[in-house]
Amino acid sequence: MTTLTTQVAIIGGGPSGLLLSQLLNKAGIETVILERSTRDHVLARIRAGILEWGTVELLREAGVGARMEAEGIPHDGCYLTDEELMVHIDFKELTGKQVMVYGQTEVTTDLYNAQDTIGTTVLHEVSDVDIRDLDQAKSYVEFTHEGTRKRLECLYVAGCDGFHGVSRKTIPEEKRREFERVYPFGWLGILSETPPVNDELIYSNSRHGFALASMRNENLVRYYVQVPLTDKVEDWSDQRFWDEFSRRIPSEAASRLVTGPSIEKSIAPLRSFVSEPLRWGNLFLVGDSAHIVPPTGAKGLNLAASDVYYLYTALIDAVKGKTTGIDEYSARALARIWKAMRFSWQMTTMLHRFDGEDAFAEQMRKATLNHLATSETARRDLAENYIGLPF
Ligand code: APR
Ligand code: PHB
Repeated sequence: MTTLTTQVAIIGGGPSGLLLSQLLNKAGIETVILERSTRDHVLARIRAGILEWGTVELLREAGVGARMEAEGIPHDGCYLTDEELMVHIDFKELTGKQVMVYGQTEVTTDLYNAQDTIGTTVLHEVSDVDIRDLDQAKSYVEFTHEGTRKRLECLYVAGCDGFHGVSRKTIPEEKRREFERVYPFGWLGILSETPPVNDELIYSNSRHGFALASMRNENLVRYYVQVPLTDKVEDWSDQRFWDEFSRRIPSEAASRLVTGPSIEKSIAPLRSFVSEPLRWGNLFLVGDSAHIVPPTGAKGLNLAASDVYYLYTALIDAVKGKTTGIDEYSARALARIWKAMRFSWQMTTMLHRFDGEDAFAEQMRKATLNHLATSETARRDLAENYIGLPF
């Protein structure tokens, strides 16, 4: 069997694995990434597009900030609306901070290019990953690559392989505690080469359900509508999408809506999920392998970035013999994860219609939006969470 050696084996070459690898290599720590799919497949995924400022700074620290600086769009605020009521959340005024509009696909592309430049090892199309000896001084990962079984020896394993990966399941079931909330609807999203309906994002609550107007650049929009889980993409012609979207946003915005053909259309279910602990011997879970948030509030990638921050600083110490950081990783990361879980759950509850809900539930949503409209304290609390809690 071919044997490879590294300091940190990284399972999964999505944003978590790539960013961790990039930061560790910059600090002189060797990594090998094992990724199940091809690079093109990883880069074809369309995910949220809002970076907290902490994420922006971490990407700069990783040396992948240049294109984001040039092409990303800093946003000073966003709108939350209820029918015709538009509540402006001015992040800049309320917190002194901004967020960056820059798609996850672009972040991932930049990270792959940076990994190429450094010359790190990223093995694609690996299968049957088996993580072993996590309770020993050295661990190893066995996997199949180019038709042969290989072994990767390492000090630590980072489980960056997303919700469906093997890393989390390597922790014995009786040692894991899982928390889950599945929401009874999904988001139908489209990409369209049209100018944004508004210069800032609009999160809309309406009697027809939720809608979100987001963007990638001045001629590319990402719009969503809440749909029943039973709906299929084929049920939604472009025309049906535009009709539904425009009746869910305030008419003032809808009057500016420019429609056009969709270039991508997909439906994603909404889920909140956390698995504890994040550490098992030499294995550390990072990003979607340990937690999922609903997209309301765009916390997914940003939480992955804060996990990476805690873990990369801890691993730098650990290879020098100081283990307090890795000992504290799970508790530190989980403290921030639970706060983002709360925020994305609250945003989801505040903005979506739940099937079969009573009139009281609708009034609670309206009262929450009205309270935001009149209380700066409430807006500041929302803004603080939206721009990202410190890490
Ligand atoms: N072996 C190797 N690689 C695997 C395996 C496996 N058994 N299972 C999954 N992978 C790979 C996937 O192909 C994917 O490229 O792990 C990667 C995980 O990437 P993501 O699912 O994107 O998760 P992560 O890197 O943690 O990114 C954080 O932010 O906006 C959110 O959910 C969004 O992708 C997002 C996340
Ligand atoms: C997106 O641009 O895709 C996006 C933006 C904000 C969200 C979710 C998704 O809360």
